[in-house]
Amino acid sequence: MLHTKAYKDLSLHYKSIKNKTLLDLFALDNSRFSNLHLSLEKLVFDFSKNNITEETLTKLIDLAKEQGLAEQIVAMFRGNKINNTESRAVLHTALRANGKPIIVDDCNVSVEIQQVLDQIRQFSDKLHNGNHLGYSNQPITDIVNIGIGGSDLGPVLVSDALKPYCKSKLNIHFISSVDGYQVFDILSHLNPETTLFIIASKTFTTQETMTNAHTVRNWFLEKTNNNLAAIKQHFVAVSTNVKAVSEFGIAVDNMFRFWDFVGGRYSIWSAIGLPVALYIGFENFSKLLSGARAMDEHFANTHDFRQNLPVILALIGIWYVNFYDYSTQVISPYNTRLSRFPAYIQQLEMESNGKSVDKNGEPLEYKTAPVIWGDSGINAQHAYYQLLHQGTGIYPMDIILGLSDKFSNQEHQDILVSNAFAQAEAFMCGKTYAQARSELLFAGSSEATAYNLAKHKVFHGNRPSNMLLLPEISPYYLGMLIALYEHKTFVQGVIWGINSFDQWGVELGKQLAKTILTDINSNQISTHDDSTNNLINLYKRCR
Ligand code: F6P
Repeated sequence: MLHTKAYKDLSLHYKSIKNKTLLDLFALDNSRFSNLHLSLEKLVFDFSKNNITEETLTKLIDLAKEQGLAEQIVAMFRGNKINNTESRAVLHTALRANGKPIIVDDCNVSVEIQQVLDQIRQFSDKLHNGNHLGYSNQPITDIVNIGIGGSDLGPVLVSDALKPYCKSKLNIHFISSVDGYQVFDILSHLNPETTLFIIASKTFTTQETMTNAHTVRNWFLEKTNNNLAAIKQHFVAVSTNVKAVSEFGIAVDNMFRFWDFVGGRYSIWSAIGLPVALYIGFENFSKLLSGARAMDEHFANTHDFRQNLPVILALIGIWYVNFYDYSTQVISPYNTRLSRFPAYIQQLEMESNGKSVDKNGEPLEYKTAPVIWGDSGINAQHAYYQLLHQGTGIYPMDIILGLSDKFSNQEHQDILVSNAFAQAEAFMCGKTYAQARSELLFAGSSEATAYNLAKHKVFHGNRPSNMLLLPEISPYYLGMLIALYEHKTFVQGVIWGINSFDQWGVELGKQLAKTILTDINSNQISTHDDSTNNLINLYKRCR
């Protein structure tokens, strides 16, 4: 990237623009909002409150072109094995392509995708029509998803966000941590006769998930007087690993497959979405896929990158990471139902692009993925926004807001929306010393008080934000929103020249945990560093 002409142009351009504030840029362009926003159907992306001009965007787009973005988009959608370290295609888009043929290794993957979607639809219908009952012929009232990472965060996000769409008052629970408190606490509220367990693991080898799965199975057998036959009605699996699923004792009929061309963090559209499909019904799950498909079509077919939402969102991120040297990105969803969105995006972007070598393994000389963090925006206003407004750093933010909510009321919605807009305005405009001082004087402060206190009430402003407006938090627009970030992540990976679809960085800790677990259970411990040795011994003494 550093050697492209566009990057060099951008470096010069950065020098010419870096001292211009957002307010300067607004003063230069009366139609800045009109010029710097894009829409897709009713989703609106306002990027006018960023330290960019039209020239910045042109140069960033040149960078994307020089890095081969157009070719890489075609390669991904076509099913080329762009995950080069694992020799895999990357086809989460095929999961929502509505049966459009896609050939990988001479096989049309869409056929199997449609078969599994049918299997999910049939199972969901059976559950809701009362044709899938528990072993004592009672309807299922509770679904428990056992999975972690991509096998947890997507289902958690979507079922939280779409809770009002829940069918038949089903309860949904998530067990992800190996902290036994979580599993035992959840189990203590469940009736084995009316509970369905979904064991969700792409590999079916993940230690946390498999430990929880065995614990839950033992609990079930204990509660049902070892009724092995009942497992069929109460346990299903979602995985790419057919062999491990059957070794666990789950019948092939109760297995929902997906494939190694679906990355864990991109898997909500696959059978990993089963708990969601059961919870909100298959029709709503289909709408989630349709929304994502609309974003896919926009992304793949909008060849003028200036009009392409994921591309522009990604390029603004590159601008801040690689030129402004901002190293975090805040995600602030205002609707409480999207509270888990930051955690979801954290895995998506940080696991995809948290890399320090390029596709060929060569070290990178520039920063890649920023730290993604955030929480419900309205709550964050009363917590960490202080630092964002008056701290010494600058933290670009994405504000996400559903404009209407039929599950709220007008009073609440008006207050929610006004707060989201106000924060973006405050981050950008700030408040000068003179303004702060005159406000104090107007409110009756003495000259001396106003002189001193005003210093604490200054907001430097010039804090950038994106505003993403959805008409509502519906299955369709949620699908569109998630796909927007997926493609943003992909575009950034292409520009940084990295493979966004492997995650070797999660392996070392897993390996060492196995050794330490052995050490904990033996008289000897293997040689670690002095700190780790002592920590293991300390734990052994208090077991
Ligand atoms: O350890 C990281 C990871 O492999 C993620 O990439 C993945 O989403 C998660 O663990 C769960 O993996 P699995 O679905 O195979 O259990």
